[in-house]
Amino acid sequence: MADRIWEALARAGAQAEERSLMSLFDGDPDRFRGFSVSLGDMLLDFSKVNIDAPALAALVELAEARGVATKRDAMFRGERINVTEDRAVLHTALRNRANTPVLVDGEDVMPGVNEVLGRMSAFASGIRDGSIAASDGRPFTDVVNIGIGGSDLGPVMATLALAPYADGPKAHYVSNVDGAHIHDVLADLDPARTLFIVASKTFTTIETMTNAKTAKAWAAESLGAAADRHFAAVSTALDKTAAFGIEPERVFGFWDWVGGRYSVWGAVGLPVMIAVGPENFLDFLAGAHAMDRHFQEAPLARNMPVLLGLIGVWHRDVMGYPSRAVLPYDQRLSRLPAYLQQLDMESNGKGVTLDGSPVSQPTGPIVWGEPGTNGQHAFYQLIHQGTNVIPCEFMVASNGHEPDLREHHELLIANCLAQSEALMRGRDLAAAEKTVKDPALAPHKVFPGNRPSTTLVYAKLDPYTLGRIIALYEHRVFVEGVIWDINSFDQWGVELGKELATALLPLVKGGEGAESKDGSTAGLLGALAALRA
Ligand code: F6P
Repeated sequence: MADRIWEALARAGAQAEERSLMSLFDGDPDRFRGFSVSLGDMLLDFSKVNIDAPALAALVELAEARGVATKRDAMFRGERINVTEDRAVLHTALRNRANTPVLVDGEDVMPGVNEVLGRMSAFASGIRDGSIAASDGRPFTDVVNIGIGGSDLGPVMATLALAPYADGPKAHYVSNVDGAHIHDVLADLDPARTLFIVASKTFTTIETMTNAKTAKAWAAESLGAAADRHFAAVSTALDKTAAFGIEPERVFGFWDWVGGRYSVWGAVGLPVMIAVGPENFLDFLAGAHAMDRHFQEAPLARNMPVLLGLIGVWHRDVMGYPSRAVLPYDQRLSRLPAYLQQLDMESNGKGVTLDGSPVSQPTGPIVWGEPGTNGQHAFYQLIHQGTNVIPCEFMVASNGHEPDLREHHELLIANCLAQSEALMRGRDLAAAEKTVKDPALAPHKVFPGNRPSTTLVYAKLDPYTLGRIIALYEHRVFVEGVIWDINSFDQWGVELGKELATALLPLVKGGEGAESKDGSTAGLLGALAALRA
């Protein structure tokens, strides 16, 4: 069944290669309506993807044949769909604002979710109003989150995105084990007014534990034993947080059924909640919950995450495009591409199927991007005229948060729409010749066009909308993972490097044994040692 659909899709892809994107609009004046989908004030336009109605129907048929709806329901029901780690996948329970029971091994997880959310809210409110004070009784002015990967990227991205709502202590983030990171963050901070949140699902991640130890020493240097009152933790490993000296009432837990890159909705979101307040954080959850409901309830052919996922499959597997760019025309989404890199590439950068056999088609693409308009003055040259076709995923709000700067926002929107139009239309040689005096220049001014894009528009980047955007992308990754028959919820590919780093550390410190390494690694160890001051 699926083979037949793939064959039909391959034929549809060959046809798409032969036709212009513009011709699809010529043949269907209503194309925008048919090739866009809405959820409330949010609209995803995919009419500038070179796909026609039969090919789209074949993709939806593929989603049906691959069991997207059944697997989606199994995820929401708490089945152990993360088979290689034998875990349920229930980040959706963290934002289940309907509070309907969600069972794992017969037990409802919602009371635990609500309990942590309640404790987070009480703690965040206490930090914000000063009733939970620093050791000298004054309010905390700064919060430093120490974490990496999923314990960093989500809160960093959301803190920047929700800056207009931030009225609490200032949030800072330290992730890299490079001492430059913690050094530069701490340089401007007063230990007497700083709260540290050590966020690590496992509480073993070497970068986080190294930074946490450094932070503790820095705080203890001026506060002595009182430094302990400047620490909180977010983790599933309560024994380890206790061993680090963090009081149990300052530890906010989560569960093994929340993957790191899906964890911003719970305790990992604590620094965001402190910055913007519990009410805004709950709006963020409510937005994600609205997208969850849509994903569960809308027919596949009108389902935003399903369609975005199927377009991803069309571009990756049928058209053979190796990457996709995420281009938010929203400066406050400047860390969204980095966040999506982990979400997408750690989830779907897989080479074997669920049963361990090699995949039969390409899986997760390379995800990258920058906010517009900055990217236009950097890498868009390649997007427009380079030899790779790069599907672009634009996003833009109808309104900014700066009513006095309306002209800026109008320019922003005009630029966003101009880019997708230029990518689609292109400019042929005849048109290029009209723009130059010297005909030799004309080929340099040709734009191939026919370059696909999607555009997500929304009223305003508020907490509710941010929740919808992130949940949209989470479910898109899920849909693609189901089509590819891979496990989107493990990340074994990050382990080998960690193991080798542990083994290399004694050699970096000057220990014996470099000769056991390959020639390049041994040579680099020697070169670095020779340069060491
Ligand atoms: O990079 C691998 C990884 O396990 C990510 O999946 C995770 O988000 C990150 O490390 C941090 O892990 P932890 O929260 O356990 O410190």
